[in-house]
Amino acid sequence: MEVKGTTGRYQETGTQALAIAVFKDEKADEGFLKELDSATGGLVKSVIDSGELKGKEGETAYLLIGGKPDGPGRVLLVGVGDRADYEIASVSQFAGTAVRSLRARNLKSVALVPRSDAPAGAVASAAVQGAIISTFDPDKYRTVDKEERTVDQLVVVIEGADENLVKSGCESGRIIGESVNFTRDLANEPGGYMTPTDLAERAREIANEFGLTEVGLLALVGKGLTFDSGGISIKPAENMELMKYDMTGGATVLGVMRAIAQLKPSISVLGVVPSSENMPSGKAVKPGDILKSMAGKTIEVINTDAEGRLILADAITYAKKLGATTVIDMATLTGAVSIALGDVNTAVLGTEQALIDEIVTAGKDVGEKFWQLPLDKAYTKQIKSDIADLKNTGGRKAGTITAAAFLKEFADGISWAHLDIAGTAWGDEQKPFRSKGPTGVAVRSLINLAVKRSEKTKGGN
Ligand code: BES
Ligand code: MN
Ligand code: ZN
Repeated sequence: MEVKGTTGRYQETGTQALAIAVFKDEKADEGFLKELDSATGGLVKSVIDSGELKGKEGETAYLLIGGKPDGPGRVLLVGVGDRADYEIASVSQFAGTAVRSLRARNLKSVALVPRSDAPAGAVASAAVQGAIISTFDPDKYRTVDKEERTVDQLVVVIEGADENLVKSGCESGRIIGESVNFTRDLANEPGGYMTPTDLAERAREIANEFGLTEVGLLALVGKGLTFDSGGISIKPAENMELMKYDMTGGATVLGVMRAIAQLKPSISVLGVVPSSENMPSGKAVKPGDILKSMAGKTIEVINTDAEGRLILADAITYAKKLGATTVIDMATLTGAVSIALGDVNTAVLGTEQALIDEIVTAGKDVGEKFWQLPLDKAYTKQIKSDIADLKNTGGRKAGTITAAAFLKEFADGISWAHLDIAGTAWGDEQKPFRSKGPTGVAVRSLINLAVKRSEKTKGGN
């Protein structure tokens, strides 16, 4: 998709279609919509007066304007809800809803009018991100009935804004949107096509393409389990196919690295992705086995399905060895997190409140929700082994917390936070602005966090 920003009039984009944000209960006979109404020969007013479009989030109305010489022949009105709640994240959803809906009508060139009062660069970036993210489909391996239609040209209209801000916003939006889709594509790959070796190859590719070398300060660590069968403690067959996405934490790290390699924040960021399959075999780890971690701590394996924390423990240790002083790890670590928070909030836990707050705020900016769970010392009792330093499961109670308590044992001496994305990394339903399947959650928040840190070190510009 070719992306352009403009600060001119929306009537003059030269695209086949125009998508316009419409607020809840907005009237067609005043302000912005009045002008649009006359440009569409009264169609906007009739659609609103008839109650066909109330401006609720996700609603759309499609207007075909025959024989109008000035302006595009097609207008899509997109409901965006209350004006007071219209945030940067809503701009992304507006753009996604518009592009998915116009793509389904086989339109090739589309202009978006987000109508947000937020800073122009951020609005342009959010609109482009939403548009690009909306076009990802998880049907790569389908050979029939595939969505072949594409929107080839996108114009974001922010009338009267600073042109340079709009341009650079569009460019960063493109980089971030493509990186989110990169992560989703990896998450969607079956375990047979995306083995740990393949994942390492993809990491090497982005390192070469965008010029990444091995240094760090802030470190991002992501679980790269390319398929989790549970191992000897094998999982039930139902939904096991989904366990190809158990490498989403790793894919998130790669997506973030791919974006910041291009955005070039002035802080160094290290990405570490421990990768493995978890399979039963004659050589597989057995319940009862004792492992010695890279940090030297010994671990009694109670359940071979609690594998993620084992590879993450060593990856955190490895990041520390490379000099990282701040580590954020992310993982599809526990089924329990879905029970606690569903698919709405990502769980965040850690040892430093300031870092957790930074993550929550970075998420808010881009419309991703993080919810902190407690990590009191008292939970550590549940992962003490009778015969080794630790055991890898903490029983039925507080599964997400005891998994984090396990990781905490390896995060001494650093500032550390952990994201459990098991509930949020996969969407069971499609939305108007996004396909179902891998969501790419946390990619945007972490890019934002890195960019904000960089701006802080530069003195706030
Ligand atoms: N990858 C799974 C967690 C998971 C489950 C992610 C469902 C997404 C959906 C993880 O390796 C796992 O199996 N965790 C176990 C831990 C238990 C054995 C202590 C779990 O959550 O059941
Ligand atoms: Mn498992
Ligand atoms: Zn797993």
